[in-house]
Amino acid sequence: QQHPRQTSKQRFVADLSQCLFDFVIQLLPTQDEMAVKEDVRKLLERLIRTIEPDSRLLSFGSTANGFSLRNSDMDLCCLIDSEDKLSAADLVTMLGDLLERETKFHVKTLPHARIPIVKLNLDPSPGLPHGIACDIGFENRLALENTRLLMCYAMIDPTRVRTIVLFLKVWSKRRKINSPYKGTLSSYGYVLLVIYFLVHVKNPPILPNLQQMPPLRPITKEETHLNGHNIWFFDDIDLLRQRWVSENSESVAELLIDFFRYYARDFQYNTGVASIRSGLLKKEEKGWQNDYSGGRYDPSRERNRFCIEDPFELDYNVARCVTKDGLYTIRGEFMRAARVLSQRPDRAIVALAELCE
Ligand code: CTP
Ligand code: MG
Repeated sequence: QQHPRQTSKQRFVADLSQCLFDFVIQLLPTQDEMAVKEDVRKLLERLIRTIEPDSRLLSFGSTANGFSLRNSDMDLCCLIDSEDKLSAADLVTMLGDLLERETKFHVKTLPHARIPIVKLNLDPSPGLPHGIACDIGFENRLALENTRLLMCYAMIDPTRVRTIVLFLKVWSKRRKINSPYKGTLSSYGYVLLVIYFLVHVKNPPILPNLQQMPPLRPITKEETHLNGHNIWFFDDIDLLRQRWVSENSESVAELLIDFFRYYARDFQYNTGVASIRSGLLKKEEKGWQNDYSGGRYDPSRERNRFCIEDPFELDYNVARCVTKDGLYTIRGEFMRAARVLSQRPDRAIVALAELCE
């Protein structure tokens, strides 16, 4: 409805927020889809236990962090709690054979990859019109922890955080800038950009920095470290939801417009590193200038055009796959989005459609 004293900008922004909620809600997975995925996880866990009885199969990625869209793939991680276990490569091969025999999945194994995985695909069927795609990895405990961190951030301010993240995931897929294999950024990278923006760029912040909050009780180094990485963060979300109230009351639409403007114009791609743990860092201080392999500069191998620090694995640049062309395209898309939204067409729905075209 229109208020007589609202300016056209206020009207557009209110309208856009509503459109964003409506848009995102229809893309959420159905209860049915989530139930089917849980059944698949249980089935796979039962099969893996015939090879490794002490194993557990856990979800990570979007199915577990609250940022899942309809038909998104399943990321599963197998943890083995026994002392003498098979090597990941052997397990991948054996599990691949077993699944090929016992299930309808199409199976592909990558036993010798940096992170050995089994890739599974299920053909579409009437009950599952899009089939299922699923990756099973092994002992990737850091991924389980970063999934939990993102889930906690999503739960602090579910309306604003989830709406923005889910919209960006759809937008980046439709605009074809969500494929690390083709030189652009993973969904995980986009989520980190949103959290960085909401914790460190917005003032007052929308989200607290969970990794820098004081713990409620003293904690030992053993409790906080995993493979040499400090994985501690404040995860008492019930308490946080009682105590954390952001002084920033900007709407989803205002935040999204500002997000695009910031990454179109203000973020220092040449020198800056976005770190959700520490705020804006310099490439120089992390040693993340462009690679010079053997003294010769090889642009095709460069890793650090765009720098996003992983929240736990601090020497890991989540945007390492982004190439020069990829970054050019991504920035072009941020600019285009900022422009479309700043033109404020009469109806916000028109802007959204144009944005995701
Ligand atoms: N991950 C990671 N390092 C990366 C990419 C991914 O640790 N460079 C882990 C993270 O735990 C992340 C999970 O893998 O949550 C899945 O990553 P991705 O598929 O990019 O994100 P999803 O949220 O699953 O998005 P989508 O729905 O597009 O699959
Ligand atoms: Mg995924």
